[in-house]
Parts: sequence; C-alpha cells; structure tokens
Amino acid sequence: MQGHKAQGAQGQLDMEGALTARDRVGIQDFVLLDTHTSETAFLGNLKKRFSEDLIYTYIGTLLVSVNPYKELDIYSKKQMDIYMGVNFFELPPHIYALADNAYHTMMAEANNHFILISGESGAGKTEASKKILQYYAVSCPSTTLLDSVRDRMLVSNPVLEAFGNAKTLKNDNSSRFGKYMDIQFDIQGDAVGGHILSYLLEKSRVVHQNHGERNFHIFYQLVEGGEEDLLHQLGLESNCQHYSYLVQDECANVTSINDKNDWKTVRNALSVIDFDESDIQHLFGIIASVLHLGNVQFEADSKGYATLNKNTELRWVSTLLGINVQVLQEGLTYRKIEAKTDEVLSPFTVDHAIYARNALAKAIYGRTFTWLVNKINDSMENKEPSRKTVIGLLDIYGFEVFYVNSFEQFCINYCNEKLQQLFIQLTLKSEQEEYEAEGIGWEPVQFFNNKIICDLVEEKHRGIISVLDEECLRPGEATDFTFLEKLEEKMGSHPHFITHKLSDKKIRKTLDRGDFRLLHYAGEVTYCVVGKVSHGLRLNGGITLLLNVPTCPTSRFHCHSHMSLLTHHSFSHVVVCVIPGFIDKNNDMLYRNIKDVMRQSKNAIVRECFASTESDSRRRPETVASQFKSSLLGLTDILMSKEPWYVRCLKSNESKQPGRFDDVLVRHQVKYLGLMEHLRVRRAGFAYRRRYELFLQRYKPLCPATWPHWRGVAAEGVEVLVQHLGYLPDEYKMGRTKIFIRHPRTLFATEDAFEVCKHKLASRIQAQYKGYRQKGEFRRQKEAATKIETCWRGVQARKEKERRQWAVKVIKKFIKGYMTRGEAKTTDNSEYLAFVRQNYLNRLKDNLPKTVLDKISWLTPPPVLTEASAILRQLHMRVMVTRYVRGITAQQKAQLQLKGITSVIFKDKKDSYPQSVSQPFVDTRISEQDINMKVLQMIRHERIKYSVPVVKYDRNGFKPRPRQLILTQTAAYVVDEAKIKQKVQYTTLKGVSVSTLSDSIIIFHIASEDVKQKGDLVIQCDHLFEVLTKLSVVANKQSAINVVQGSISFQIQAGKEGIVDFSSGQESMVYKDKNGHLMVVSTRTKAR
Ligand SMILES: Nc1ncnc2c1ncn2[C@@H]1O[C@H](COP(=O)(O)OP(=O)(O)O)[C@@H](O)[C@H]1O
Ligand SMILES: [Mg+2]
Repeated sequence: MQGHKAQGAQGQLDMEGALTARDRVGIQDFVLLDTHTSETAFLGNLKKRFSEDLIYTYIGTLLVSVNPYKELDIYSKKQMDIYMGVNFFELPPHIYALADNAYHTMMAEANNHFILISGESGAGKTEASKKILQYYAVSCPSTTLLDSVRDRMLVSNPVLEAFGNAKTLKNDNSSRFGKYMDIQFDIQGDAVGGHILSYLLEKSRVVHQNHGERNFHIFYQLVEGGEEDLLHQLGLESNCQHYSYLVQDECANVTSINDKNDWKTVRNALSVIDFDESDIQHLFGIIASVLHLGNVQFEADSKGYATLNKNTELRWVSTLLGINVQVLQEGLTYRKIEAKTDEVLSPFTVDHAIYARNALAKAIYGRTFTWLVNKINDSMENKEPSRKTVIGLLDIYGFEVFYVNSFEQFCINYCNEKLQQLFIQLTLKSEQEEYEAEGIGWEPVQFFNNKIICDLVEEKHRGIISVLDEECLRPGEATDFTFLEKLEEKMGSHPHFITHKLSDKKIRKTLDRGDFRLLHYAGEVTYCVVGKVSHGLRLNGGITLLLNVPTCPTSRFHCHSHMSLLTHHSFSHVVVCVIPGFIDKNNDMLYRNIKDVMRQSKNAIVRECFASTESDSRRRPETVASQFKSSLLGLTDILMSKEPWYVRCLKSNESKQPGRFDDVLVRHQVKYLGLMEHLRVRRAGFAYRRRYELFLQRYKPLCPATWPHWRGVAAEGVEVLVQHLGYLPDEYKMGRTKIFIRHPRTLFATEDAFEVCKHKLASRIQAQYKGYRQKGEFRRQKEAATKIETCWRGVQARKEKERRQWAVKVIKKFIKGYMTRGEAKTTDNSEYLAFVRQNYLNRLKDNLPKTVLDKISWLTPPPVLTEASAILRQLHMRVMVTRYVRGITAQQKAQLQLKGITSVIFKDKKDSYPQSVSQPFVDTRISEQDINMKVLQMIRHERIKYSVPVVKYDRNGFKPRPRQLILTQTAAYVVDEAKIKQKVQYTTLKGVSVSTLSDSIIIFHIASEDVKQKGDLVIQCDHLFEVLTKLSVVANKQSAINVVQGSISFQIQAGKEGIVDFSSGQESMVYKDKNGHLMVVSTRTKAR
C-alpha cells in the first residue's frame, strides 16, 4: 500500500514533468495557456487537472488550489522532502513549493513575507494554512527549545478552531473569525515564535444560528466529550438538546465532526499552551455559563416586565461566574439610565431582557475568545530581542453569500473586497516594477478594479460604514429602517448599490423592504438590514415552529404584544429569538450596569475581560464596523510592508463531494477571485519570463554555440540561442536579467524541441559517459599496473642493492681474508679460512686415494690445514689398510706373508724386485705328473714342496742345461728327466747369492770338503723371487740369501773357484766371457 502510494506520488511528478503529457494533465502554469483570455480554456485546464487529482496550478507564482474533498497522498513527509529547497518551477505545483519558496526568499533577502490565502467559505483556506504551518514545522531547522514553540504553534490551531470555528452551510469547519498569524524566523531560519491577530469573531453565532448551522464547536465538544465530573461541576448535562443556544439549528450532531475526539485534542492542546488548571476551570466555567445563560427564561409580570424567579439556570451562571445571584438578576432585568444627576433603574420587557441576556452571552464569549488569543500569543511569543523575519499567514473568512445575509456577511465581504484591492495593487505594482527593473516598456492591462466598491463601503462621511455609524450615534430614535433610508439618500446613484425602493420592477421582486444589495466584485449580495424577533414553539422532538416578525420601525423592543399572545398560549415551550439588525449589531450594546456586574466576577478570566474596558468613559465606544474597518486598515498596512504570496482556494462543488467539479460554481469563483484578471496582468505583455541563467541552463543543448557550455555572459548566450531557434523579434524581449517571451506557443515549441533533443542528448551523454567511464577504468587500471610495477621494481631494486651490498661486503671480506690467510685467525680472515677449510675438505672428500698403494694422489692442503691434512692422510690410510686387511682371503694372506718375506730379502736390493711384487706366487711351477716317476719315487718321502724349471750352467764351460729344481722338506734336487743330477741338503747349503741387477741368476753356495762332491750350483730361473722365498721358508734360509753387488765367486770344486760377472745392457744374455767368467747381461729396469 505504502509502495503504491509512493509510486503514485512519483507518478505525478513524472506525469507533470513531461510536457508531452500536456494534453492529459493540462498545463501547470496558466501563464502558459495559449488562449489566456478564454475563461473556458482556463476552466478546461483546471478540470483536466482536477480529474487527475492535480489540485494545484500556478498563475506565475500564485497558487490556485481546488478543494478535492478527499484525502490525497501529497502531504507526506516524503513529499515535503521532495519540495525542500527546490526551484519553484522544477516540480509540479504544490502548496509546499510555495511555502518553501517564500521561506527561501525570506532567508535570501532577509525581508518579511506573507501568504494570502483567499477563497470562499469551505474552499480550503484553513487547510492550506495548516499545510503551510506543518511544512515549516517539519522543514525548518530545529532545536529542542524551539520544538516547544513549534508545538504550541501547531496545537494552537485546534484550540482556536474549537472556539472560533463552526459548522455553516458552506463548511463543516468554517472559521468564524479572521486569522493572521506571523511565524517568526531567526537568522538561521529556525521558527522561533509566533503571533496571532484575530479579526471580528462572529459573536452572533453564540446566540443564534441559521437553519442547518451550528454554534461554535467548543460547546458541543464540552457537552459531548466532557468528563462526568467536569459536567457535574459545571451543572451541565451530557445532552445538547438541553441547551437552547445549541438546538436552534436542529443539527447538533454532524457526521463529519467527532466532538468527543476533538474534545480530547483540545484538552490536550490547552496543557501544551501553558494553561494551568485554574485557567482551564475558569475557561470551561465561562462556556458552561453561556449555555446556562441561554436557558435563562424570563417571565412577564403584570406590567409586562421581565422577571426571574428562582431560576436554577441563573443560579448556575451566578456560581460559575462567581457573581451574586441578586446582582446578576438585576443586571439582566434592569437597565440603569443616567439622567443628568441621578441614576434611574428602568425595567426590561421580556424581549428586551432576552436581548440583554444574549448581548451578555455574546460579550462574554467574544471577550473570552480575545483573551484566549492573547493567552496563546503569550505562549508562542519569542522574547529574544534579536532580529527576526516573518512569514505571515492570512486565513481570513472568505466571501460569503447566504440566503439571509446580515451585518457579519457585510463585514466579511467588505474584508474580501479589501483583500482583493490589496491583491490588485500588489500584483500590478510588482508586475510594473518588474518591467521597470528589467527595462521593458509597460503595456497597460484592462481589469476590473474593485476600488469603487471599497470606497462605497468605507469612504469617510460617504461610505456605508460612515452612514451606519452616524445612524447609531445620532441622538433620537434610529432604527434599521432609518439607516436604510439614509443609505438610499446617499448611495442612490451608485452603480453597485441597490434597494427595494431604488430598483426597477423586475429586481424589486427579489428584494425585501429591509434589504439592500451590493454588487461586490465577487457577485451580488443582498443584506438584510433589519432585525427580527422570532417567536417559536418548541414541540416535542425538538422541532421549532418559527414566526418571524420584523422589529417595528419605531422601536426595537415593543413587540411584546405578539409575545404575550404566545406566552399565554397552551404550547409547552415558547422560544423567543431576537435577531438584531445592522444598528444593534454595529452598536454591540452591552448596558453599562451589566458590565459593572461582570467586573465583580470571581472568575479571573471574566474579570480580566471586563476590567480593561471603557469603564467610566462616557464616550460611546467605537462601533463594530469602525473597529473592523480600522483593524482592516491595520492589516493592510501590515501586509503592504511585506512581500506577497497568494493561494487562491476554489470550491469544486457545493455538496462537499469528492471528485465532483461543478463548472458553474468554479467558473463563478474564478471570475470573482479575479483569476482571469490576474492572469491577464501576468500575461499583459509576456507570458513567460525567466532569468537568463536558468533559461540558458535548460535550453542550451538546442544550439551548438551554447552546448555544452556558454563561456560568455548568460544574456548573450540566450540571444544566440533564441536566434538559432528562430524567435521572431516581437516574440521576445531581453530584459536586464530575464528573457521575456510573449506567447506560450513559442516556449512550448522550444520545450518540445528540448524534449526531442533530450533523448538524443541522453543517449549521446550516455555513450560519452560510458566511453569516459571505460577510459577512466582503463586509465585507472594502467595507473594501477604502473604503480604495482614501480613498487615491484623498487622492491627488486632494493633487494638487488642489498644483495650487492652484501656481495661487496662478502667479497671484500673474502679478499681481506685471502690477503691475511697466512696470518693467525682474526675476524678479518676467519670466514675466509673457514671457507678455505670447507672448500679443501669438500674437495678432499671427492678426491681421496682409492687404494692403499696410491701414495701420491693426496690433495695439497692449504697452509692452515697442513697439520690436519697429514693426520687425515694417515687416518685415511689406516682406514684403507684396515678395510683392505679385512677384505683379504687366507690364500692371499699366505701369499702376502710370502711376499713380505720376499720384501725383507730383496726390497731395495735387487733391481727386478719391484716388477716382481705384482706377480703372484704360485704353489708350484711343475705339477707332479711332469716329474719323472723314478725321481718321484726317490724323493717322495721327503715331500715335495715346490718345483720349477731352471737352467743350470755347467761349472766348467758354463753350458746351459734345462733342469727341474724340486724343493722338498729337507733338500733341493736338480733333476734331469729320470736322474737326480744333484742333491743339496739344506744343511749343506752355506748361502745363496744373487746380483743386484735385474738378471735371474741364482748361485747356491754348498759346503763341501770332499772333492768328489760337486761344487756350487749356478742356475737361472725366471721365477727367482718365488724360488728363493719358497726356499727361505722351506729351508729356513732367509738370512742365507744375499744380494751381492758386483761379481760373485763360486766354487767349481773344492779349492777351485769360478766367477760370475754381471752387467746391464740392451739385451739380456748369458755367455762365457773371454776371461773365463760367466757374463750375465740384463736389461736395465726403469724403476731404478
Ligand atoms: N487540500 C485538501 N485536501 C483534502 N480536503 C480538503 C483540502 N482542503 C480542504 N479540504 C476539505 O474542505 C473542508 C473545508 O476546508 P477549510 O480549509 O476549512 O475551508 P475554509 O477555511 O476555506 O473555509 C475541509 O474540512 C476538508 O474536508
Ligand atoms: Mg477556514
């Protein structure tokens, strides 16, 4: 629901915003109406808008409002927000736009303003003023302190409405007083205070209401809504039918009015506006006393004078007002006449008494109302002396025409004439001033000026008011009829004045003898000048039969004859109703003695109300009409000094029906409110005007020279623009600050072009914007990338720098370490040395000698590690040896042991030894099969240990002979086939000799004493080291083996010696030398 409503409001904005919708919703400013002189076109536009619930339309800055008689969703907080601070013409017309514009102009120009709300009764003036007040309450800045002022301003409304409004035929809540309220703003724009001026309360309503109308709301509210206690205290009963002031109209209850609820609102409001309990008590005491007063019945005594005996109503009045009953009774039945020296008490007739009673009721009520306004003013008053600006709100009774119109209507309609006059003056004035300010020639406008009617009413000595006053004040019997005669005398020829006597036959039919008719600017109104006394018969069920009797021309209160006729009648209840005429109402007479009585009241409000009055002055008080006239003059002065804003309220129909638009009724109002005239004035020369800046701002897309920017003076831009648009010279004028356009169609053409252009523009702007966004996005991304890159590069560079710095340091240290590497460990070289050490050890690890035999490939250590290297080398060797040793077999071990023996014997002694080391030894070189059987049989028992083929050299002649050498446990045998050639007992073996060279000659030295025995043995064996090692082991002859330097001698036989010489040569050979020696040549070995 809420959403729907909001949508509706938005919809309205859209609808109005688009000029293409012009046909449907009409135009929102009448100055743009092409046929501006046509009333029909004007009404057509109003009606079109009204049917779309667009109740507001502008005529320039004037707001026309048509009463919709239904709640519209256009007064929400949201709507207020929309209108706050927005240019007047940018949004659909609204009362908020006007209020906001007035407020902002006031703030900007620091001057005073007023909003004149006019329109006939029931057109929506009071509602409009409330809307404005609410708008200010919400939109103005605020503090808690100010909030209370604001609250008071807001709640003062229901209180004043309760006491000052009533149901009339025109309006269920008709304001029966004029109200002008100043809202005061401080420099910040806060609403800081308020002040109310009230105008002419329609007091006669207290005692008399027309058929179908009611008394003031407060009476019904109190009777219907008042708490039981309170009513009891006031002597009231909760039934309006009991009070004759409330039932004359027979419509105490109205459906649109909820008196009980309103009572609560009022009660609540009273406490907000500083009313204390005694004030409230006194106030309601007064209301109740008025009701009681209305019920006071007089009886006629034998002479026809009014009497009041044991009247309970009177007692209540006396109690509530705190006045002695007797005194009160006297005041109501006698009049004090002051003759030259003494006072005479003159008794009233019943009619006269009723008149006096009513006069008292009206006086009490009227003065209390004034007191109330003052009281409210006190509570809203801002006592700060600081400078303030004000916005005045004038909600004054609208033009009224009833079936019977009396003095009140005369005053009200006079007031409306005055306001219309003011309006004409101000509008024309401001229009003229604007033309002047803009330097544009003024073109005079034809319009109806109602000054002639104002003069008719108010002119000194000649106006109706003057005549009336004269008649009231002159000595002698003045009556309503004499007044009418005087009028006819003076105004007889005035075109706006007519009476029964002055009129022609046709018109005469529509006029009574006691009437006069004025042709107001708003229409004709017939005023009934004479008073009436109505004698009615109250039947059961509250129906009153009325018999209207005009008061006699000669005396107002001599009609008791009719009365007495009725009082003696058998009807249950007689009502006497005295309706005063112009003279009485203007005099508003309250006899002095009753005023004196009131001054004795114990009710503080009553006492206050009557204390200040013209107590002893003998001068007659100012008449009501004069008072009213001067207060209107005062009001005119107040308004003239301020800037005006206008709200014109129209009634859409007489029956208060929603959605009904009564053409005739509206047409009439449009006419008399002078809306056509106003429009004519506004349109006199030019329909439309706008400040250059604003005009250019809106329409600049229509011309390439002004789009998108005009760099020069706005006025020149506008000139260029309108030239481009093809405005003709008489279609527009250039003022000082504004362009003036004569015809709306020119503007509409421009506006339509703008509408078309807007769409194109929108897509272009969209495209541009998209491009712009895209570019922006791209640029942003690029910037971001660059930024990241820069940052990253920075980071990299810083890292690189750090690394370099670190490297420099390391290198420096390295170099320094290198330079001082030989020195003892210092901080400078410690790292370098550690590096060297680590480096060396790492390298060493990969380059260790692989075998035990490798004695050379050990890495040369740096100086710092010499010692460690040596230790490591040893350790490594030991590890390798251990590993090797662990890895060898028993056979290898035996072999090694043998080789060890060989080494002991030959190492570094015989040249061929090194080559032999790697030659493994074998068990034997000749297997037993290859040894002759005979030999085997001979020596087997000695156990053969080793056999090897050898070459034996004959001791004489040195002939080489191949032989087998067999070693047994005990002896070595030289065997030739089957023969043992020589047996050498190990015991006889003295020694064994070999040369140092690389030959393979072995010489066995054998001990022999016997010549027969063979001599020493010379043999050559390829396996020299193996043979000799085996021999040394088998025979245990290690020490017997000698490596001999040079030649070796041997015994050929006992006593005969042979010699073997050794040498080295190219080729190894063995031969007998010339000297008889055996010559052994061997090749030189490389190792040596
Ligand atoms: N703007 C409005 N929206 C709805 N109803 C309105 C509006 N203005 C007036 N009315 C109705 O018309 C009635 C009479 O309005 P009111 O302001 O009292 O008239 P005025 O003060 O001109 O005599 C109100 O009680 C209300 O029902
Ligand atoms: Mg009103």
